[in-house]
Amino acid sequence: MSQNKFQLKNLASGKTTEYAIHQGSVGPEVVDISTLYRDHGMFTFDPGFMATASCESRVTYIDGDAGVLLYRGYPIEQLAEKSNHLEVAYLLLNGELPSEDEFSQFKHSIHRHTMLNESLRKMYDGFHHDAHPMAMVAAIVASMAAFYHDTTDIYNARHREIFAHRIIAKIPTIAAAAYKHALGQPFIYPRNDLDYTANMLHMFFAVPCEPYRVDPLHAKALDLLFILHADHEQNASTSTVRLAGSTGCNPYAAISAGVSALWGPAHGGANEAVLDMLEEIGSADKVPQFLARVKDKQDSVRLMGFGHRVYKNFDPRARIIREMCHRVLAQLGDTNNPMFELALRLEEIALKDDYFIARKLYPNVDFYSGIIYSALGIPRSMFTVMFALARTAGWVAHWLEMIADPAMKISRPRQLYRGPAQRDYVAIEGR
Ligand code: SDX
Repeated sequence: MSQNKFQLKNLASGKTTEYAIHQGSVGPEVVDISTLYRDHGMFTFDPGFMATASCESRVTYIDGDAGVLLYRGYPIEQLAEKSNHLEVAYLLLNGELPSEDEFSQFKHSIHRHTMLNESLRKMYDGFHHDAHPMAMVAAIVASMAAFYHDTTDIYNARHREIFAHRIIAKIPTIAAAAYKHALGQPFIYPRNDLDYTANMLHMFFAVPCEPYRVDPLHAKALDLLFILHADHEQNASTSTVRLAGSTGCNPYAAISAGVSALWGPAHGGANEAVLDMLEEIGSADKVPQFLARVKDKQDSVRLMGFGHRVYKNFDPRARIIREMCHRVLAQLGDTNNPMFELALRLEEIALKDDYFIARKLYPNVDFYSGIIYSALGIPRSMFTVMFALARTAGWVAHWLEMIADPAMKISRPRQLYRGPAQRDYVAIEGR
């Protein structure tokens, strides 16, 4: 028996088969069970894909036990310290950091695509003022599929590149327009003299009646948050983009599906839910009472911003964001931010509690990010939109990787059927 084989024996039938074991460049090996149904007439059963590798990828690597996160091999800590979001987007899309010339061309292309078609802008008028910004962003991104007929051949590399640049360029404009619509304020057009994140802040907070100066500290803090949120392997929203995209659908429609999946409080919606939770707890003396509810199986409440499917140690992004909170709040003169103080106290108590220790529940990327968004003046309803804005680079990188793979197949999982066996129709008189 060769070393790189996995042997499977069905004890009931006595049939034994072997399956290839594939080793990645780093990380766990995988067993290729794609012929299992043909060999044994069985499917694997793995609800939530706890132990299932859905694809091969070269984009991002996570070691959940060691708390490691690499974008195309570069540690998140180094990128957070030395790079910027647009350069990280280039890295995720292309696999390598850009040369000066490559980055200059990429920035120029992004700048040429930041405006929205005026018909798309008018679509916001159809939303009520209290529409959740994530609903608006998902709808507007999906509606981009109704435009750009010049570049819809997903098997044309140049069309794919234009799509990638268009959606990365426009997502800040789409996000800012959702915010302005919610405020009832006029839409602010993008400016090509500002860099990516400064431009987003300008579209968010400028008004036509006076000049608006983007605070470089705000832009730097937000850009760092975008780097940290840019990609994360096969998370739920990225897997949604891959599954939708595997049908060959319009790429804007696939990205919109990712926006919708991210919105859930178990995923990207957690950053908004953390602030709601901190507000509900109110003060540090109420933390033990809240944690008692979290541990009570009869109570559905969870400690939002804690726990992760992959990280069974500290989420490296949470460490960086917690340090950022200290620095950004101090720079903003907000040294006694009550929400941050409460979050620190909540983390301190939870990390000493056996319930969380036994389940390896640590703060994740969403635990502290909302505190910084709030300090930058970004309202809670926009927190998950910020996550979607940053994650667009990762979604696009995975879509590009999948579509360019000649071995791509439509994703179509099977099931363990528990419904009724075949039965005959009974006329209504006989029921
Ligand atoms: C993101 O996948 C990604 O990479 C996501 C993300 C990305 O960048 O794309 O990292 C972004 O989505 C971060 C996660 C944000 N979500 C939250 O903060 C919501 C709160 N956390 C959870 O609901 C939960 O931890 C998940 C959804 C994140 C992970 O859930 P799992 O892996 O399915 O684990 P589980 O629900 O099976 O929980 C295992 C045990 C259970 O207890 P028992 O049944 O064994 O007694 O841990 C408990 C759970 O009840 N548990 C929690 C908890 N998270 C898990 N208990 C209280 N509070 C929590 N937050």
